[in-house]
Amino acid sequence: MDSLYVYPVVWLALAGIVAGLIVMNSNLDGYTAVLRSNELLKRQILQLNWLRKSLWFGILLLVVVSIATVSQLLSERNRVIRSARESVWPSYSPEKIWKAPDISLAETDSEADLIAYGRDLIAHTQDYFGPSGLVRPNAINGLNCQSCHLDAGSRPFGNNYFAVASTYPQQRARSGSLETIPKRINDCFQRSLNGQPLDSTSREMRAIVTYMQWLGTGVPKDAKPRGTGLVEVPLLDRPASPELGREVYVGKCASCHGSDGQGLPIPPDGARAYPPLWGDKSYNQGAGLFRLSRLAGYVKANMPFGATFDNPQLTDEEAWDVAAFINSQPRPEHPFLATDWPDISKKPYDHPFGPYRDSFPEAQHKYGPFKPVAAFYKKK
Ligand code: HEC
Ligand code: HEC
Repeated sequence: MDSLYVYPVVWLALAGIVAGLIVMNSNLDGYTAVLRSNELLKRQILQLNWLRKSLWFGILLLVVVSIATVSQLLSERNRVIRSARESVWPSYSPEKIWKAPDISLAETDSEADLIAYGRDLIAHTQDYFGPSGLVRPNAINGLNCQSCHLDAGSRPFGNNYFAVASTYPQQRARSGSLETIPKRINDCFQRSLNGQPLDSTSREMRAIVTYMQWLGTGVPKDAKPRGTGLVEVPLLDRPASPELGREVYVGKCASCHGSDGQGLPIPPDGARAYPPLWGDKSYNQGAGLFRLSRLAGYVKANMPFGATFDNPQLTDEEAWDVAAFINSQPRPEHPFLATDWPDISKKPYDHPFGPYRDSFPEAQHKYGPFKPVAAFYKKK
């Protein structure tokens, strides 16, 4: 079936044959006109007419058979590709940890270019929107989407995008509105990347959305496969401690993210970069990671770099404490404080900005202990 490249040759030969037959056929026209002037040759005229009709029939047959053959070959080829793809595509089951489809499979997709572009935008966001960004320079802070959505959003419990296609558009309490995938993507542009939103009709936005939809192919509508997003670290009975967290940070994080938390600048040669954890170049206070449970969940299953959900390197306490230390450091302010969570009773227990429906102080919403706060909202 790989020999489909010979098709141009086959079609050329076929066109040659058809053209030859048509020339013969029109020559016969002229010949019968000459013969018609002679009464004695009527029989020959009749035979020639037969010959001409069968030539037309032959031409028709040839064309029909060729088209049928080619479309048969094409659909056979598609069937082989489809079944090969199905045999390696992750199959959804509520019990199994979902794995991302192999990226090489995207090459046979009709949207291959867009998927590859979307993935690159996620993995190397700095190249497109960073200081010398190709699409729009200086539009974001010092992070890539991949800094937080590991392996371009394809790692189990690495804050992946497995359930994006299946669960959006969705009603979200943070904005109090129905959010589409582009709206949700722009949330991260404006908060986690502390930057400007993308035009929802831009090629960049279409590419990112197409990539996410491709990643979620096979996940049934509304399903959230196991391994989606982040792990939930069990709540502690005490407040998370920035002081204890500083010790964890110095011992297990500073080697890559720097003792000043600024990481290493992303070099132009694309070598592995260590992103900033606080300060002007990091996420702002409106970002998901500014909620302690999100940061603890991210860190528990993924940091120090190389840790995984099934091979974590921090205890639950270390994860909460180091998260408390990181989020106690300075960072850009919350850009949407006035409009987020229009219904304050929907604020998550670890949203560190009042006003609240409950009477726990802001500090407890930031560092815990969270059990009483969570219990307050569970009762209702
Ligand atoms: C600083 C870390 C960080 C960066 C950088 C970041 N995100 Fe996010 N993103 C998050 C967190 C945290 C969540 C919410 C996870 C949760 O609530 O479980 C999230 C959620 C999302 C979701 C929704 C996932 C879902 O299943 O609901 C999308 C889509 C998304 N991000 C896209 C992006 C894109 C695109 C970029 C780059 C332009 C980006 N993010 C950059 C941290 C980040
Ligand atoms: C071996 C180097 C290394 C160590 C050690 C390490 N990290 Fe990271 N960290 C990374 C890399 C690399 C990324 C970005 C991942 C990517 O781009 O693929 C990252 C990303 C992050 C992010 C999300 C992006 C951001 O800047 O906010 C957080 C949060 C984080 N690390 C926290 C920690 C914590 C906490 C520790 C210590 C427990 C730690 N890291 C230890 C290499 C490291």
